[in-house]
Amino acid sequence: MTNFPPDLIQLLTKATHVVALTGAGVSQESGLRTFRDAQSGLWAQYRPEDLATPRAFARDPKLVWNWYAHRRKVAKSSHPNAGHYALVEMERNIPEFTLITQNVDGLHHVAGSKHILELHGNILNVRCSQCGTFADDWHEEAGNVPRCAKCNGLLRPDVVWFEESLPREQLEAAVQAACTCQVFFSIGTSGLVQPAASLAHAARTEGAVVVEVNAEPTPLTPRVDFAFHGKSGEILPELVKAVWG
Ligand code: OAD
Repeated sequence: MTNFPPDLIQLLTKATHVVALTGAGVSQESGLRTFRDAQSGLWAQYRPEDLATPRAFARDPKLVWNWYAHRRKVAKSSHPNAGHYALVEMERNIPEFTLITQNVDGLHHVAGSKHILELHGNILNVRCSQCGTFADDWHEEAGNVPRCAKCNGLLRPDVVWFEESLPREQLEAAVQAACTCQVFFSIGTSGLVQPAASLAHAARTEGAVVVEVNAEPTPLTPRVDFAFHGKSGEILPELVKAVWG
């Protein structure tokens, strides 16, 4: 059982505007792999420059498509965990709540969170790499990368790759929320990827109380007001129960 300081409980009871930034750690208990955990992280096994950049896709579209197709299948067959549901409960209790996620698995949607900003896209969506048209349906024949029905361009996952910009509206809304909230949670993220990582610092500079929930300390830990180290699927439900019963 986590011991939550009375100051934090009181703050959350009264809070009217809260932001939570989530990363791959939140979905770890749903069976999805994180990126940077030393043994089990995706980037321990694969090189991002081979699979998650526009150049990688131009060089070997089939390799990249197949890797994301596999991850899409895994994401589709996974289920939200207690951490995702605790964030839904938090949203129900706080007048203004913004969930900013770096995750592309869509599990916050499945859990029932409403106000979500997906900074890195959504692996369940597919769009044309040429004209940008979203595809509802596609055919993977003979292992080829499927093509756009409109312009015949190659289809790609609607995720943000390294060297690409984040969706502008989502990022602007995230910065705005971070800079105006009273409490900012950083949950299940190593805090190593920009610009998402800078949101906690922006929130702190603008006067928010920053709370970290992560399996292990991160570079953000020395700068937060409260840090809880353990599984988000255990700590978040305990916190929600302690605050809103
Ligand atoms: P990382 O893999 O970098 O960090 C995940 C963090 O979650 C680590 O600090 C783990 O210790 C922690 N963690 C693991 N299991 C946990 C659990 N059950 N409960 C709480 N914490 C846990 O993933 P992100 O920070 O999300 O970008 O990575 C950011 C971005 O880098 C990703 O969105 C992805 C990646 O490259 C793109 O693909 C564009």
